[in-house]
Amino acid sequence: MHSQSIMPHLKVSILKLVMKTFLSRMILLFSTITSINVKDFVDAAKAQANVTRTNHIMWTMGDDFQYQFAESWFRQMDKFIKYVNKDGEINALYSTPSIYTDAKNAANGSWPLKTDDYFPYADGDNAYWTGYFTSRPGFKRFVRQLSGYYLAARQVEFLAGKNKTLPNTSKLGDALGVAQHHDAVSGTAKQHTTNDYAKRLAIGATEAEATVSSAFSCLVSNKIKGQCGGSQDTTFSQCQLLNISYCPSTEAGSSKPLVVVVYNPLGWNRTDIIRIPAYTGQSSNQIPQNWLVFQVTVPPLGWATYFISKEPKTERTHSDNNSLKDTAVDEVVEIGPGNLKMLFSSASGQLTRMFNKVTGVDTPIQQSYLWYASSTDSQQSSGAYIFRPDSNTPTIVAQSVHLDVFRGPLVHEVHQQFSPWIYQIGPIPTDDNIGKEVITKMTTNMVTNKTSYTDSNGRDFLKRVYDQRNDWNLSVNQPIAGNYYPLNLGTFITDSKSELSVLVDRATGGASINDGEIELMLHRRILQDDGRGVGEPLDEQVRGNYYVNINKLGGGATWRRTTGQEIYSPLLLAFTHEDEKTWKASHSTSGTMMETGYSLPLNVALITLEVGEDAAYSTVAKVELKKMFTGKEIKEVKEMSLSANQEKSGMKRLSWKVEGDGVDETAPVRGGAVDALIQVVELGPMEIRTFVLTFS
Ligand SMILES: *[C@@H]1O[C@H](CO)[C@@H](O)[C@H](O)[C@H]1NC(C)=O
Ligand SMILES: *[C@@H]1O[C@H](CO)[C@@H](O)[C@H](O)[C@H]1NC(C)=O
Ligand SMILES: *[C@@H]1O[C@H](CO)[C@@H](O)[C@H](O)[C@H]1NC(C)=O
Ligand SMILES: *[C@@H]1O[C@H](CO)[C@@H](O)[C@H](O)[C@H]1NC(C)=O
Ligand SMILES: *[C@@H]1O[C@H](CO)[C@@H](O)[C@H](O)[C@H]1NC(C)=O
Ligand SMILES: *[C@@H]1O[C@H](CO)[C@@H](O)[C@H](O)[C@H]1NC(C)=O
Ligand SMILES: *[C@@H]1O[C@H](CO)[C@@H](O)[C@H](O)[C@H]1NC(C)=O
Ligand SMILES: *[C@@H]1O[C@H](CO)[C@@H](O)[C@H](O)[C@H]1NC(C)=O
Ligand SMILES: *[C@@H]1O[C@H](CO)[C@@H](O)[C@H](O)[C@H]1NC(C)=O
Repeated sequence: MHSQSIMPHLKVSILKLVMKTFLSRMILLFSTITSINVKDFVDAAKAQANVTRTNHIMWTMGDDFQYQFAESWFRQMDKFIKYVNKDGEINALYSTPSIYTDAKNAANGSWPLKTDDYFPYADGDNAYWTGYFTSRPGFKRFVRQLSGYYLAARQVEFLAGKNKTLPNTSKLGDALGVAQHHDAVSGTAKQHTTNDYAKRLAIGATEAEATVSSAFSCLVSNKIKGQCGGSQDTTFSQCQLLNISYCPSTEAGSSKPLVVVVYNPLGWNRTDIIRIPAYTGQSSNQIPQNWLVFQVTVPPLGWATYFISKEPKTERTHSDNNSLKDTAVDEVVEIGPGNLKMLFSSASGQLTRMFNKVTGVDTPIQQSYLWYASSTDSQQSSGAYIFRPDSNTPTIVAQSVHLDVFRGPLVHEVHQQFSPWIYQIGPIPTDDNIGKEVITKMTTNMVTNKTSYTDSNGRDFLKRVYDQRNDWNLSVNQPIAGNYYPLNLGTFITDSKSELSVLVDRATGGASINDGEIELMLHRRILQDDGRGVGEPLDEQVRGNYYVNINKLGGGATWRRTTGQEIYSPLLLAFTHEDEKTWKASHSTSGTMMETGYSLPLNVALITLEVGEDAAYSTVAKVELKKMFTGKEIKEVKEMSLSANQEKSGMKRLSWKVEGDGVDETAPVRGGAVDALIQVVELGPMEIRTFVLTFS
């Protein structure tokens, strides 16, 4: 079963060997089948039945790399089934997951209710599969970035009207699908295979970019939707390399001002800060010297246009560049133009406190970079799958750091240089022959009772207790690696007063090893392989962001959900050059797919809040389809399975008895059926529904 797409699969060469011997032995056995072999089979089945509820057990056929000769597999299975059934003690048959599930259900038993997962997984005392949560962070970011881009691109493709003769987003969708493979985004493929995944993504992204560019051209062109076809009077560029500060169109020389069209893929009004290399009217092949930071407001599922031109020499009013060196008279440097403040010590250059002016939450906090040395133990070394530090105490990168402070009217920036390589975040030096697994740690004095929370695939947050699992007794042999969890959205800790939340910009690993602490693994550069099939050490360079906030207890959920959506779906930027007047005369500078003034409720952003997560937003939310698609008449609304491949009305749901005192979990709140005329979709907390709409 590959339902856990995040779990990479075992591919040990030793296993393959064992399997080959097994196969040749089977071939041998089947020519002279004896009762001993049938007995082995029956015994193995009975041993498994002994630890399984009901008398139905499942044996899966095949595995990674081991299911390639269907003919020989089936020939041998046919014989096995025949002789095992002749023996009569057990009944063997070819089956499917649904036949198996029906058989379990028909047994009328009661079942334990499981609401959590099995993380972290280990297949040996020192073999916790918690390294791949972070392995290849550059590739993980690439996949995340394009996933958000793909959603936005599909929206503008729909908005402008698909045109069969123009480029489309299918290739990017396909490449993203392939990248979900359990050895792709997990970072557990060889370098050359990873390069191939990245190449497919890049090809898909290039085509999607062309789609977006022509769709934008259509949207802003004042022509009726779907009528602008190939007549692209504007060519936009999009700067996919903003992550490394590379955006020729904002920097390149043009006598005309820069036009920035900003698209908001979220269903609510959005005010955000844009940061682009500053347009100086001159081309530059260098790393940009100046950055332009400005605030934009964009309607839901819509766009707004900004014009940037160089003013003839004026006084710099907002570039008071307060380098700490010049102003460090005070002990404490306060940062943050808004309500969230961060205090830094001028002596150490390190963060010392965070407080929220609105909520009054105020917490001493320290942030540091450290690294674990990768174990090189020949029995089990650290590698792409497995995280095994050779000591439980990480090495600190720097006690005091150089601090530069830049204050603008909109944003304040702090540049800390922990070491030459942390500043750039890579390449991690390994000339000392030590593999390094780099983390950042936030340390507070919060009393967290060994408890932290991590998201489950970006949806629910699950409670994690240090060295503890809910459903079984556990001895953790690796106090660090055995307490790492995968983060897709982020993590948080709470005490009686406040919540400290950290959100991530890509899938990564994280832990709360000591009370009041959160650590994120940022990067891994390892010199050994861990013997799980990659056969190569990990070596990648990377740069990234994470997002921190501090709220009153119970107040963090709203921030995590909305900010999480904004991180996943950043504003889409498209650049071109034109005079403002000329542009405005022939283009529409803003627009939205939705009815003007309508916006999705804040808790409907593909994700709603869980009951109890936030009092105001954990209720039934409503989406008015008519207002979402203005100018279009919805002829039919059909509810589908989540993946839209089956009508919901045709789906059968089995009912199961829950073990225990008969007190079921309270039934979750669910939205009702959609009225064909009113066309309002209700969503319960954490509910996801899929509809197919037919337009007239
Ligand atoms: C079933 O489990 C019990 C308890 O663990 C054990 O004593 C017994 O030998 C097992 N039987 C089989 C057939 O494995
Ligand atoms: C399960 O219950 C159904 C209906 O109550 C009954 O028809 C069936 O025989 C039961 N099955 C078993 C295995 O007890
Ligand atoms: C997308 O474009 C390709 C050609 O690049 C074409 O083969 C395919 O049918 C198109 N897909 C859709 C959904 O229009
Ligand atoms: C699709 O684009 C082509 C040019 O590539 C254009 O001739 C045609 O009119 C467009 N079709 C529609 C329906 O817009
Ligand atoms: C900001 O201050 C630093 C340190 O004094 C200086 O090196 C840098 O050139 C200044 N930058 C600008 C844009 O003025
Ligand atoms: C600490 O956690 C343990 C185990 O999860 C729980 O039983 C206990 O009530 C908690 N204590 C406090 C003060 O929350
Ligand atoms: C764990 O161990 C304790 C004490 O030995 C025991 O009471 C409890 O039933 C065990 N729990 C599980 C899930 O095995
Ligand atoms: C920046 O993004 C591109 C793809 O858009 C990726 O190939 C590259 O590795 C990224 N660079 C860094 C330093 O993250
Ligand atoms: C979104 O913002 C615009 C402009 O600020 C405003 O006119 C509109 O009413 C807002 N819409 C909603 C639903 O808040």
